[in-house]
Amino acid sequence: MICDAGTKARFTRPLVRWYRTAGRDLPWRNRPEPYAVYISEIMLQQTQVSTVIPYFHRFLSAYPTIGDLAAAPLEKVLKQWQGLGYYARARHLHRAACQIVEQYGGAFPSDLKALMSLPGIGRSTAGAILTIALGQRHPILDGNVRRVLCRFFAIKEDPREKKVEAMLWDLSSALLPKRLPGFYLQAIMDLGATICKPKQPICGDCPVTRACGARRAGLQADIPLKKPTKMIPHFDYVAGVILSGDAVLIRRRPLKGLLAGLWEFPGDRVAEIFGELSADESPEAALHTYFKNELGLELTTAGQWMTIKHVFTHFKMTLHVFICRIDAQLGYEAPFRWAKMKTLDQHPFSSSHHRIVLRLDTLDRGGSATLSAS
Ligand code: ADE
Repeated sequence: MICDAGTKARFTRPLVRWYRTAGRDLPWRNRPEPYAVYISEIMLQQTQVSTVIPYFHRFLSAYPTIGDLAAAPLEKVLKQWQGLGYYARARHLHRAACQIVEQYGGAFPSDLKALMSLPGIGRSTAGAILTIALGQRHPILDGNVRRVLCRFFAIKEDPREKKVEAMLWDLSSALLPKRLPGFYLQAIMDLGATICKPKQPICGDCPVTRACGARRAGLQADIPLKKPTKMIPHFDYVAGVILSGDAVLIRRRPLKGLLAGLWEFPGDRVAEIFGELSADESPEAALHTYFKNELGLELTTAGQWMTIKHVFTHFKMTLHVFICRIDAQLGYEAPFRWAKMKTLDQHPFSSSHHRIVLRLDTLDRGGSATLSAS
């Protein structure tokens, strides 16, 4: 696939002109310095702009510099991230900040290779940071740009194939203008996000519609080639909200693996508790078995208190939540902790378990009936 000077001009000129009037006014665009752009780029991976904006403001007020981020405990950083999902991003951010302080004396690396050697920063993210914040000239290839290029150049092959991906990087590089490359990158990002959307692109409003290969061939809906939809498994989980006095029992997840280091209410996957063969027993029975085996606790629960559904990348979860008040406050060891109700929200919880915290909070303030029931 060749991108000659004419094609480049037919793409970049109308795109940049369009962006001058239709581009979005986003907070990180007012602060084009590497640290703020870095935070925005990481938050924007797999997450929509509207979700990111309040997190971006809060994060930069809490950690105005890379040094502040490096000096913060990981648990506090995870707390700031709570609800954004894909928590590995927050752990990588924190590790990268520590590395920047240790290896570069806190000065943000301005070299592509150096940036790419940091945790959580791939070629596209590194290119975006250096181009937007420092005016260097690097191509990017995130989901939006990949879709725009596949459509504009009518690429019908699978963009996940190695050779197609290499071609897309070459195209992305060939299109980069000499002047204001950062401005152009944000224009193509905005085009992908607001016009050249995955479903129902608004071709009538697109500044490059006349030269778009997919549009000319009427193939906008078929390009880029979709991943075959994978069936993902569904699992039932149980969790117990165990109250004693003004405290509630919580548990920290291991520091490796899914939702690493986050807090949750104790419980497990139903199939892990009963074994695969008897997984059809009730969630309530599974919860009782879990607490008996793990903590030697005989619970009395009065039916299911909440049901939470959540979709992870690799599986769907239904979380059956039960509540129970006990008299004794036994001194459980890590990873368990009795947290005072007032301090509960200082712990970073996974999104689904945070919904339990919010419900507990409303009960604690208003109707204590359920809280005091055994
Ligand atoms: N998605 C990824 N990076 C972005 C940016 N800088 N602006 C808007 N959307 C984006």
